[in-house]
Amino acid sequence: MPPHASYTHLTVLDIVPFGSIAGKNTFFALRLSRPDWPEWQPGQFVMIRPDSFGLEIPWPRPLGICDMNDRYLICFFQVLGRGTERLAQLSRGETVAVTGPLGKGFHSEVDTPTLLLAGGMGIVPFIGYVRSHPQPWNLSMVFGHRPPLSCYPIESLRERIPVDILRETIPGDLDNLLFTLHERIHDYSAQNGLILGCGPKPFLRTLYGYGKSMGARMQLSLENTMACGVGACLGCVTKTAKTTPETPEYVQTCTKGPVFWIDQIVL
Ligand SMILES: Cc1cc2nc3c(=O)[nH]c(=O)nc-3n(C[C@H](O)[C@H](O)[C@H](O)COP(=O)(O)OP(=O)(O)OC[C@H]3O[C@@H](n4cnc5c(N)ncnc54)[C@H](O)[C@@H]3O)c2cc1C
Ligand code: FES
Repeated sequence: MPPHASYTHLTVLDIVPFGSIAGKNTFFALRLSRPDWPEWQPGQFVMIRPDSFGLEIPWPRPLGICDMNDRYLICFFQVLGRGTERLAQLSRGETVAVTGPLGKGFHSEVDTPTLLLAGGMGIVPFIGYVRSHPQPWNLSMVFGHRPPLSCYPIESLRERIPVDILRETIPGDLDNLLFTLHERIHDYSAQNGLILGCGPKPFLRTLYGYGKSMGARMQLSLENTMACGVGACLGCVTKTAKTTPETPEYVQTCTKGPVFWIDQIVL
């Protein structure tokens, strides 16, 4: 177990659906009793396992820390498969096993113009990042998504910082998103700003490509599939920049990341 992380049981305070797709709820905010952590950083994550996983699902599932205050920890998730389906069935008063806070979070430079780039569920770590930032007027965000906006916890962000919201519904929308990302990364690199990204793999690959070509100071949060979350199983590895054609070099995403500077990795 990494220093400062703990294994504990937390109580479900509530679980609230956000938006719906074809009449079905697949996005949920999960509020848990506050863990006894001395500190945490936006970009870190937890491994979460409700008792209802039983013998059928042996491994916990990783979820980003959306935010935490002196009363509760909040996670936000989308139902994709067996594990998240079970999480969506949790109800008030149930307990879940939680290990955290895990991994390395996002860098913060209070006086530096900072661009946050989120694709879909990549919005999660930026809720706590923006809420806890001492100078939020230095932050701005581009948020790209496909499901309706009502599926995402966007309001607390929009109250604090400018957010460009780009929904992709037809193929031309993707061009618009790519153009916007390119322009904004270009602007922030030119002023030596900090750029932070989180989202699905294709989104991160785009950011990585733009960031590398412009010499941007950019960090990306990788959401590789994880089993143990603490560096033991080697199921989550990422190729490092030290890789050569003869000798590929990998690191555990769960302990060395999930947030990496783009010059540390190959995507
Ligand atoms: C560090 C980290 C933070 C994360 N934070 C969040 C979060 O805040 N909210 C959230 O909704 N999800 C988050 N995820 C993704 C989440 O862990 C997966 O969606 C979840 O584990 C899927 O479990 P499942 O049992 O429902 O799906 P499975 O039955 O395991 O898989 C169902 C489908 O989901 C895909 N899948 C599995 N794992 C991932 C993954 N890591 N990323 C994308 N697709 C995946 C599978 O390929 C498959 O197509 C995070 C992942 C990591 C590694
Ligand atoms: S999830 Fe096991 S080593 Fe990273």
